[in-house]
Amino acid sequence: MKNRSSCNIVVLSYYLQATLALLVGLVMLQAALGSAAKPPAIFILGDSTVDVGTNSYLQESRARADFPHYGIDFPRSRPTGRFSNGLNGADFLARLMGYNSSPRPFLSLGSPLLSYLRNHAFRGANFASAGSGLLDLTGSALGVVPLSEQIKQFATLQGNLSAVRGSGATEAMLQKSLFCISIGSNDLFDYVVSNSSTTPQEFIYLLMKEYENSIKTLYSLGARKFGIISVPPIGCCPTIRLLDAEGKCSEALNGLARAFYSALETLLYGIGSELEDMKYSLGNAYLMTINVIDNPQPFHFTRVDTACCGFGKLNAEQACNATANLCSKRKEYLFWDQFHPTQAAANLAANTLYAGPPLYVSPINFAQLVQL
Ligand SMILES: *[C@@H]1O[C@H](CO)[C@@H](O)[C@H](O)[C@H]1NC(C)=O
Ligand SMILES: *[C@@H]1O[C@H](CO)[C@@H](O)[C@H](O)[C@H]1NC(C)=O
Ligand SMILES: *[C@@H]1O[C@H](CO)[C@@H](O)[C@H](O)[C@H]1NC(C)=O
Repeated sequence: MKNRSSCNIVVLSYYLQATLALLVGLVMLQAALGSAAKPPAIFILGDSTVDVGTNSYLQESRARADFPHYGIDFPRSRPTGRFSNGLNGADFLARLMGYNSSPRPFLSLGSPLLSYLRNHAFRGANFASAGSGLLDLTGSALGVVPLSEQIKQFATLQGNLSAVRGSGATEAMLQKSLFCISIGSNDLFDYVVSNSSTTPQEFIYLLMKEYENSIKTLYSLGARKFGIISVPPIGCCPTIRLLDAEGKCSEALNGLARAFYSALETLLYGIGSELEDMKYSLGNAYLMTINVIDNPQPFHFTRVDTACCGFGKLNAEQACNATANLCSKRKEYLFWDQFHPTQAAANLAANTLYAGPPLYVSPINFAQLVQL
């Protein structure tokens, strides 16, 4: 009897799940039919968290991921320049918005840009460059594209778009587009390594000045909707944990990441009240990630301190490459290499940014921002 009733419960829960799946499916179908119009364009700026191959187009760049085992879970196990075993946050966000794939690196559009813009259904571009930061100095030794330069590239694209489509149509298109920015981690890493005499407060202030200039410049070029992703708990990267005898996270770096978030929250609130038609979502990458690290099981992760691809202690003593040790259960690892999340972790983060609650993304989530 007992067995049977528990079996019935299983059957019942199966039906509940099936019904729920059907309902979700219907809602999604309705959404797809209702908004048959194509999704707005996406412009992505930032660092390795959202770089989809920019640095592979820079011959001199030393921050690259265009070799195995990078991309092992990408279609045809192809390295693409993404710092991931497969897709990254930029890809998952684009998918959630209704695209099959993420917009291409600006540097891959080639020249003449005008013919590209005439011949393609335009869905945006990705300017993000691994190793870059808010400050031009950050990553300069690695040969990367700093945020200020990424914004100049966008200005070029905007000018070329206006030349092809007219300025009115371009303005209307940009007004609806999502400008996604994920940057700051590399500035904080470099600050800690530099042993600078600038205080943390002063340094964060400096970064916020740059962030403010960046957002206002993009705004002056027509951007209105900003999806901003703050700095994750960088003190918990496998390579940083190595510095601690017990493998603990660096509280100094994590404290900087929290301070960065608080300052960014204040900054965005200020800009939002100053520029009336500017709208934004701020994702708290620190909180969403530290909660997974502290309690991985509900999220189906078993390893949150060790890199999947690498060498030595925590698999993080040497960088991931073609001869590195590779974990087998990649879906169970939070970290792919010394610094970067796995595809599974990026998927979870993108879902949280897109549809998550105000605890993780505020004042509205990315889905609400897109629909405004
Ligand atoms: C695109 O814009 C840049 C900067 O304004 C301009 O120099 C260039 O001629 C344009 N190029 C093409 C091919 O549209
Ligand atoms: C960092 O600064 C401290 C005090 O200013 C100094 O003693 C130390 O040697 C510096 N370390 C490095 C690596 O520059
Ligand atoms: C991978 O990295 C290790 C350790 O840094 C190095 O000894 C090895 O030669 C590298 N392999 C390749 C294929 O680059």
